[in-house]
Amino acid sequence: MKKHSEADITALLKKLTLEEKASLLCGKDFWRTKNIDRLGIPSIMVSDGPHGLRRQTEEGANFNDSIQAVCFPAACATASSFDRNVLHQLGSVLADECHNKNVSTILGPAVNIKRSPLCGRNFEYMSEDPYLAGQLAASYIKGVQEKGIGTSLKHFALNNQEYRRLTNSSDADERTIREIYLPAFETAVKEAQPYTIMHSYNKINGTYSGESKWLLTDILRKEWGYTGLVMSDWGAVSNRTAGLEAGCDLEMPSSNGVNTQQIIKAVKDGKLSKKTLDLSCKRILKWIFNYIDNQQEGEFDFAKHHRIAKEIEKESVVLLKNNGMLPLKLAKPSGVMAGLKGKKYSLCLIGEFAEKPRYQGGGSSHINAVNVKGSLEVFKEKRIDFVYAKGYDTSLTDKIEDVNERENLIRKAVKLAKQSKNVIIFAGLPDSFESEGYDRSHMDMPDDQNELIRQVARANPKTTVVLHNGSPVSMPWVNDVNAIVEAYLGGEAVGEAVTDILLGSSNPCGKLAETFPLRLEDNPSYLNFANDKDHTNYAEGIFVGYRWYDSRNMDVLFPFGHGLSYTTFEYSNLSITPTNLKNDNTISISLSVKNTGKYDGKEVVQLYVCDKTKAAVRPLKELRGFEKVFIKAGSRVKVTFTLNKRDLSWYNPELHCWYAAGGQYEILVGSSSRDIRARKTITYESTIQPPLEITDDTALGDLLRDPRTKEITLAALSKGKSVFETENTTVKEAISDEMTIQMEDGNPIRNIRTWNNISQKDYLKLIKDLKEVLCSKTSETSDKKTKVSERKTKSASTQKRKIVKEK
Ligand code: BGC
Repeated sequence: MKKHSEADITALLKKLTLEEKASLLCGKDFWRTKNIDRLGIPSIMVSDGPHGLRRQTEEGANFNDSIQAVCFPAACATASSFDRNVLHQLGSVLADECHNKNVSTILGPAVNIKRSPLCGRNFEYMSEDPYLAGQLAASYIKGVQEKGIGTSLKHFALNNQEYRRLTNSSDADERTIREIYLPAFETAVKEAQPYTIMHSYNKINGTYSGESKWLLTDILRKEWGYTGLVMSDWGAVSNRTAGLEAGCDLEMPSSNGVNTQQIIKAVKDGKLSKKTLDLSCKRILKWIFNYIDNQQEGEFDFAKHHRIAKEIEKESVVLLKNNGMLPLKLAKPSGVMAGLKGKKYSLCLIGEFAEKPRYQGGGSSHINAVNVKGSLEVFKEKRIDFVYAKGYDTSLTDKIEDVNERENLIRKAVKLAKQSKNVIIFAGLPDSFESEGYDRSHMDMPDDQNELIRQVARANPKTTVVLHNGSPVSMPWVNDVNAIVEAYLGGEAVGEAVTDILLGSSNPCGKLAETFPLRLEDNPSYLNFANDKDHTNYAEGIFVGYRWYDSRNMDVLFPFGHGLSYTTFEYSNLSITPTNLKNDNTISISLSVKNTGKYDGKEVVQLYVCDKTKAAVRPLKELRGFEKVFIKAGSRVKVTFTLNKRDLSWYNPELHCWYAAGGQYEILVGSSSRDIRARKTITYESTIQPPLEITDDTALGDLLRDPRTKEITLAALSKGKSVFETENTTVKEAISDEMTIQMEDGNPIRNIRTWNNISQKDYLKLIKDLKEVLCSKTSETSDKKTKVSERKTKSASTQKRKIVKEK
């Protein structure tokens, strides 16, 4: 069949009446677009995601009626794979399933930043780090879209809490928005061009994101070059015509005609231009026909996809702690309890989650999975001897009889644990503790589970805890247990993946994509998270996650990027060429990583950048690269990275662009944000100087540091004599040169008249020269950003000249 060309779409658009166009801009029902049969425009279907297909059944009138599908690990888990290929594979499999079930677009990935461990939807989000989230999302999108199925990158933007998510305003400054909350979207857009983007429910600094031209048009389309369509989150539309004008093309779901009429009226009244209408219709038509033109059969093989879900989870499980208990060394199932040293049983499994693991979160991503396996079943299948105690029951309440039953369950578990050589407790958060729609109020696991772990570990320190949770939990028993395995919400095959890891047939290789703080109170958003019904103040600014904990050198439970292996890795030969970076050049970084242990394994090598220039307040380190590599025991591999100017940059709100100051930067490579194994310094030569305003109050230090003004200032100063200058040795000892420099740094230039004995005439000449030299540098380079910076410098100094005169 002939594919639809741009000209075909334009021709189709011309044939549409105003009413038809307006109807196309709103969903037909909950999941479908509007068909226009007269012109052969079909209705296409979208479906949640992101970690499985939640496609509504054909007959399903109910929002929650979805077909049976494979549940893959949720994003909290897959992000811990730190593996672009894993995300690509997940996307690719989901695209097959979409084709098979006639779904045009899967509603994901979700890349909102984990600002607080409390956000109810963290299990669906990837990371506290925008670089990691952006890289993984781009791979997922490519995996899906290479097969002609669309994605919907969501929720654009600053949707970092569930509390009042439909009306609350996320209030953040420009630098914070640009450095923390937008880059994951930016990378995904620039690298993978998702067919659709879903705008978020919330407001940003008082304006609904769906009505923000700044976000949906100026940044998304003009700056990042986005060519796809923007749809609303479900029920996020407040003012439809304002949204259309801002850049939201499609409203989902249907507004039952209400907003279609609003659009028609607005066009007729001349309040909404036909051009705006046509632009959005064209984007929708392109999207519809791109799907129609690329439809394929698509494979939906439950067994095969289940196996893939297991492989993905194995890449994602994070071994948080291991004092040698793992991998398990079990007695042979011969009935002879050799090596058990007086214990009756080799292995004791404890916990309801061993039978029924918690493998996914609640809300719109919930998959109707049919092949869920817990570890208990897997151990049975493998014919491994074990005893089992339930330990806790998530359905028990606080009624007195239930409380008694809880104590009883713990008692039974402790008894078995005492008689066993190895104990594995499967624990974590029950469904009601975290879900879309509401946030958590604390980071604790249920009391009875904490008590169970404490008592069992006391009875038998050879205890491993396997965790099933979508976000960090506090672990009051962390020092009591031998090992901790973070399985997250690992999809329907979680039991199989975890068992392979416990038994050592797979070597754990996941790394935390988020920090586990010691206490909730340590989290930087603690005082400003979801505590005001209308506004959320992002007061911590850019200091989110490890950017905060590491900069403040705070103890954490487990740091960002942490994850153990059954083997060990040694880093050596860090080399950087060249060691000075200029303009749009790049630098290459390489190092050698050796597997020094006995197991084959995978290591995630992480690259962080530390800004030493002191040009701005910056986090101690920021992730700018990661590579997951497989290394056979005893072998070594070379790992390489490439960095550019943007990797050194911060968002300069004065220049309104990414900016790196000239000076030194440290390149750190390591196994987690707290386990840096090698570091080297590079120099960046900047052609962009930030604006420098010349007034009587300009600081001397700023003038002496800036290459444009340094020489003139020094020359002027040499005409006078500083009051600090002395030959008196006693005074010299009391006020060292270093102290003088430090004090002079912030000294307003006006003071050189008295402190340096500069005449008023020479002073005024210096001011004039400084302004001239700043103005004359405007055409130094053709770099666009330089021009921006200098335009600002010029206008600022022109304005300030008046002020100087008036004084
Ligand atoms: C969620 C989206 C989801 C949509 C459709 C909304 O409530 O925020 O992530 O895709 O519902 O289910």
